Amino acid sequence: MRTLITNIGELSTCTGAGILHAAAVLIENGRIAWVGPAADARTDGAEIVDAAGRAVIPGFVDSHSHIVFGGDRAAEFEARMAGEKYAAGGIRSTVAATRAASNDELRGRLRGFLGEMHAQGTTTVEIKSGYGLDVETEERLVRLAAEATDEVTFLGAHVVPAEYAEDPGAYVDLVTGPMLDACAPHARWIDVFCETGAFTVEQARRVLEAGIARGLRPRVHASQLGPGDGVRMAVELGAASVDHGTYLTDDDVTALAASETVLTLLPGVEFSTRQPYPDARRLIDAGVVVALACDTNPGSSFTSSMPFCIAIAVREMGMTPAEALWAATAGGAAALRRDDIGIIAPGARADLVLLDAPSHVHLSYRPGVPQVARVWKDGALVADAAALSNSARAAEVSAAPAGNGSATQGTAARRPGSAAPSRDRP
Ligand code: NIG
Ligand code: FE
Repeated sequence: MRTLITNIGELSTCTGAGILHAAAVLIENGRIAWVGPAADARTDGAEIVDAAGRAVIPGFVDSHSHIVFGGDRAAEFEARMAGEKYAAGGIRSTVAATRAASNDELRGRLRGFLGEMHAQGTTTVEIKSGYGLDVETEERLVRLAAEATDEVTFLGAHVVPAEYAEDPGAYVDLVTGPMLDACAPHARWIDVFCETGAFTVEQARRVLEAGIARGLRPRVHASQLGPGDGVRMAVELGAASVDHGTYLTDDDVTALAASETVLTLLPGVEFSTRQPYPDARRLIDAGVVVALACDTNPGSSFTSSMPFCIAIAVREMGMTPAEALWAATAGGAAALRRDDIGIIAPGARADLVLLDAPSHVHLSYRPGVPQVARVWKDGALVADAAALSNSARAAEVSAAPAGNGSATQGTAARRPGSAAPSRDRP
């Protein structure tokens, strides 16, 4: 099975090879087999996709999400927009809804989020547990997450559940004992929310060390709601990533810059909680490796759109469009310690996005506009905006009463993607 994407106006490799023009990419058996000038491409036997001068980028690597949960917290968001502050305790209301949901309900939700992520160009997503907070539900959540991704994170230490409010130490015993035993076989990562209102640095260290002893690798939520010692503890334990970093001290920045730990920024959180955006420019200039992720969750950031996060990072956080693209692809891969995704290079997985735009710059230049034309994961097409809008249009035409074109027209006006040009089809 070979596919040649050719006539690419701008190819962002997110490697040292930089940006290529008039380029082509050959996909073979789910991997990238060749990258080079379109004029040199061998077309024999391959399915040809004509990019018609548009841009191709690596699939986004969204290295931080919490997409197995029940219910939502729209009322909490509404109250926040009227002046309430975000606090870690809101997690508990999602825990109640998640415990009450069946596996099928949670699975259906999860599939829905994955579909919307694919449609927005994400080809790898890390998924955390953390809305169960009892052994049985946390195990259900990591099992469901493992159906959807290889990058599963056990986050039993998300917050202390209400039933342990008087004895948080006993909850840490549960997390590091029976809960870890039940969840570790289904996870690759261990995470902890190290923050006021969640877990102290000492508790967080216990959780991470227990996970490491079980063969899990550490990643940490830290410095989201205020400065603390979580970042330095994460660096000390060799965490692959420390996430949030809204309030970093100079010592945090120095420690990160001297380490292998990636700092994953989550602009959807600052957007949705009205906190200050972190200064990515300061971090990059200091030598910190920065990734971008959505942190999709019902409390602090209910977006699943990497293009939206890129647009904020460029507009509000001092990143160039090229840096933001790198952070959302190769940076996310680094945060997951992966070298087979997030780049366009021979040997890498064929995870690619064809944009309906001439350049990656349009991701932040045209915020909120659907510009993902096609998405391949492991060489297979997982999203095709033109096919989607064509089939939606066909369904509406067949549903519309004879002689009445208004249904079609009305829907076309509501769906910006429906104007996708037919050149998308080879
Ligand atoms: O990444 N920081 C902790 N966890 C989530 C928030 C979860 C929630 O509010 O439900 C986060 O922001
Ligand atoms: Fe999170």
